[in-house]
Amino acid sequence: SDTPEIKKGLAGVTVDHTAVSKVNVDTNSLLYRGYPVQELAAMRSFEEVVYLLWYGELPTAEQLAQFQRIERSHRTLDPAIARVIDQLVGTAHPMDIVRTAVSMLGASDPTAWDSEPHAILDKALALFAQLPGIVAYIQRCERGLGAIAPRDDLGYAANFLWMTFGEEPHPVAREAFDVSMTLYAEHSFNASTFTARVVTSTLSDYYSAVVAAIGALKGPLHGGANEAVMRTFEEIGDASRVTGWLDEALGAKRKIMGFGHRVYKRGDSRVPTMHAALDTLIAHYGRPDIADLYDRLEAEFVARKGIYPNLDYPSGPAYHLIGFDTAIFTPIFVASRVAGWTAHIQEQLASNALIRPLSAYNGPAERHIEGYVADE
Ligand code: CMC
Repeated sequence: SDTPEIKKGLAGVTVDHTAVSKVNVDTNSLLYRGYPVQELAAMRSFEEVVYLLWYGELPTAEQLAQFQRIERSHRTLDPAIARVIDQLVGTAHPMDIVRTAVSMLGASDPTAWDSEPHAILDKALALFAQLPGIVAYIQRCERGLGAIAPRDDLGYAANFLWMTFGEEPHPVAREAFDVSMTLYAEHSFNASTFTARVVTSTLSDYYSAVVAAIGALKGPLHGGANEAVMRTFEEIGDASRVTGWLDEALGAKRKIMGFGHRVYKRGDSRVPTMHAALDTLIAHYGRPDIADLYDRLEAEFVARKGIYPNLDYPSGPAYHLIGFDTAIFTPIFVASRVAGWTAHIQEQLASNALIRPLSAYNGPAERHIEGYVADE
């Protein structure tokens, strides 16, 4: 037949080159611009990692100071955005509110169409700086609390937690949060990044690409999994109930959230680093019950299915321990992954080709409407 081979879900298809990150499944490694992600998580702040992703090199002290100065100057929540959040909290999911807020920022930027590389980076840095205030304010509104002004004497992670909880974070919480942001920042052609590249490939604007990417990230097969992991933990409740819960869930053919990956089939390269960060939180907050549940579910699920945890498995309970509501976990992922989306949007623009694949038609054969007479 003349049916071309179809790769469902583009599985295994290489779509383009990228210099942003490299996933190596054989060595179970993830490199950002050549650097192993676990080294970056251990040795560099999230701001430095974002600079690396955008500019290709780690910043010098001077470059970092300049980057941080601009980032800190954009942290204050725009009152117009605060009003949008006020209107939507209580009815909309926080991911929908973040998506709407970014759309609103785009619609209010008279230079939204400017796609010069420096203009994209200016917009990206301002958006990157504003997202913590947006996410923090949504969390506070959900709890009936008012906004907290940013602190420009705090780094990104500490300020994010400050604006959310109104107190300076303990170093253990700040460090674990910073590590999670670095680990979430970039992951080659995942669904949301590819979405951003598709939108960019039509020469649409930066914000449109980010808004579309947020829509893709929201789904539970992608970023939404970190929230779903926490709901699973809450549903199970206690390590002693893992076996019974798994029997039932697998019997009902449910997917166990936080396990499995399209690319990694023998474990996610980011998990050991995040698991170690989670352990510091478990020790700090004195919650061995969470460690028990975590270990038991992992051990039983891996033994039964041979499918390993992905990054969302340790990050879900980590965000819970830091104090976030479950519905805020995926918005946090947005605040981090906007770094990777931006690097890919730049890269797509630098060597653009419209992304427009083909499909193999399998609908009805050609047919005609009775009475139609072609003009001659
Ligand atoms: N629970 C139960 N079974 C699973 C799971 C899981 N989490 N993951 C894969 N499987 C089974 C699946 O049912 C299928 O079995 P069978 O061959 O009998 O039909 C087999 O493993 C292959 O799975 P697949 O869904 O065809 O593989 P995929 O490459 O399309 O899926 C995935 C990757 C991430 C969509 C899937 O593993 C999944 O749904 N996981 C749960 C959601 C999740 O944790 N997502 C986060 C992904 S990573 C980080 C991120 O983006 O945030």
